[in-house]
Amino acid sequence: MIVNIKENIKSQLMNNFGLDQVAVEVPKRGDADLAIPLFGFVKSMSIPVTEVFEKFKVVLENLPEIDKVVFIAGFLNIYLKRKDLSYAILKSIYNEKQNYGSKPSNGQTVVMDYSSPNIAKSFSVGHLRSTVIGNSLKQIYQKNGFNVVGINYLGDWGTQFGRMIVAYQKWGNKEEIAKNPIAELQKLYVRFHEEEQLDPSLDQLGRDAFLKLEQGDPEYIALWQYFRDESLKEFMQMYELLDVTFDSYNGEAFYNDKMDAVVEELEAKGLLKEDQGAKVVYVGDEQPPVLIKRSDGATLYTTRDLAALFYRKKTYDFVKALYIVGNEQKLHFENIKKVTKLMGYDFDIEHVNFGFVLQDGKKMSTRKGKTAKLIDVINEAVDNAKTAILTKNPDLPNKDEVARAVGVGAVIFNDLKNERHLDYEFNLQQMVAFEGQTGPYLQYSIVRIFSILKQSQFDLSKVNTSLFQEDVYFNLVKVLDQFPSVIERACADNTPSTIARYLLSLAQEFNSFYAKVKINTPEEDVRNTNLLLVQGILTVLIEGLRLLGIKHLESM
Ligand code: ARG
Repeated sequence: MIVNIKENIKSQLMNNFGLDQVAVEVPKRGDADLAIPLFGFVKSMSIPVTEVFEKFKVVLENLPEIDKVVFIAGFLNIYLKRKDLSYAILKSIYNEKQNYGSKPSNGQTVVMDYSSPNIAKSFSVGHLRSTVIGNSLKQIYQKNGFNVVGINYLGDWGTQFGRMIVAYQKWGNKEEIAKNPIAELQKLYVRFHEEEQLDPSLDQLGRDAFLKLEQGDPEYIALWQYFRDESLKEFMQMYELLDVTFDSYNGEAFYNDKMDAVVEELEAKGLLKEDQGAKVVYVGDEQPPVLIKRSDGATLYTTRDLAALFYRKKTYDFVKALYIVGNEQKLHFENIKKVTKLMGYDFDIEHVNFGFVLQDGKKMSTRKGKTAKLIDVINEAVDNAKTAILTKNPDLPNKDEVARAVGVGAVIFNDLKNERHLDYEFNLQQMVAFEGQTGPYLQYSIVRIFSILKQSQFDLSKVNTSLFQEDVYFNLVKVLDQFPSVIERACADNTPSTIARYLLSLAQEFNSFYAKVKINTPEEDVRNTNLLLVQGILTVLIEGLRLLGIKHLESM
């Protein structure tokens, strides 16, 4: 609401005095709610600063939300009517509940490509980041009124599957593989590369095998299908644990028969050039050309991504296409954008990039069989949470469920609180702690509010709005009032971290309120005022966590 007041102040002043721009700020210091720097108008209005103030004052004091304006050190300081404003804000949260901050449907569709692991390989930490960020963005866009199509673009096609098939046929032990498919297949793949050092002819065998696969050889297709099914089974365990779903699992292979059309269109538009037998598109003098078709006719990652993009446009008619993929694929997505532009399309494509996960300062890797499987790492977080719960609250009935929500929530929050393009350190002990900037800290704040609410009866008609004059109350109300614009910003910038940080500051404000004010006091009016406020905080904390893909608990 304060955002609207701010906009209104701006337009009132601009209209009344014919000004091009008026900056209305939220002051960092002092106790005013809004402030306007005045010196900039001295020249344009050709009057002294105090007169600017007097003129503005006359207009602003007529606005119903403004209590008073004061001139301090070149600024016009605005004080809002705390009582009415606070009551209006808290009542709208009270009435709207989880819909507070939601926008009505805008009828527009956004496609999001996230998670997208590669089959016959383990689910990497990079894929975990993509999954968690993508899932949160899905909730955030829906909250902002978009229709979202979540696509898991499985890496289930490419020359590596030719090599995989060769390795499987040469050295694969079917029983061993059946017992532990992904780990064994990954070993075979490593072996292929080792043997290739000794016998370079393997490279050609791999290429031939992939071509045969692309041409639909039934035996090869059956093997590939087996790799895909087994991999998906393992990936699904991860998605179940994280509670993430997709609307489509169309991976790269799905586009196998849709690439010719892209190649033809590029040809027809005169964009395809020969380069040493291969087909490329030139995207600029300083850039290496984009490879579309290899000299042996095999297609590439880029070609498949182009086919997928056109398919998505045709199928979903998106207004925006997001790709939640690590920083290392920056060039690839720049190429996709450039090629589609050259083709004459004006798509809103965004590479929602992210950094590495580090362990002891080095890139965390679950490959090479050295480190544990990623799902085991997350399960370790769940175990740690369970140990903590057993000491804190041994009588809790549903310990396993709670431990799961806390452990998984800890991993998710630890990822989303960071600015996504940065690398971050994976520290299990720290992320499951109940103190500090953690998921469990937020879940615990929610539990605290639930327990307060369980001990009391609330009566809206007994709220005493004059308490909102006090800073302890009004500061919290102001934070709650920011939630809708926080959600908007998270959507505009594709940054779940905006919400994560906001929730931390809200929880901190609440916990300091909790330390200062006795919430369940016998004084009826004070108690009901406290309860109205605390319910608003609860609603926002729960809804905020939901937007991050994290569950809340009523007790823990
Ligand atoms: N499978 C790819 C990888 O693991 C990520 C795919 C990202 N999405 C896309 N449309 N290219 O690196």
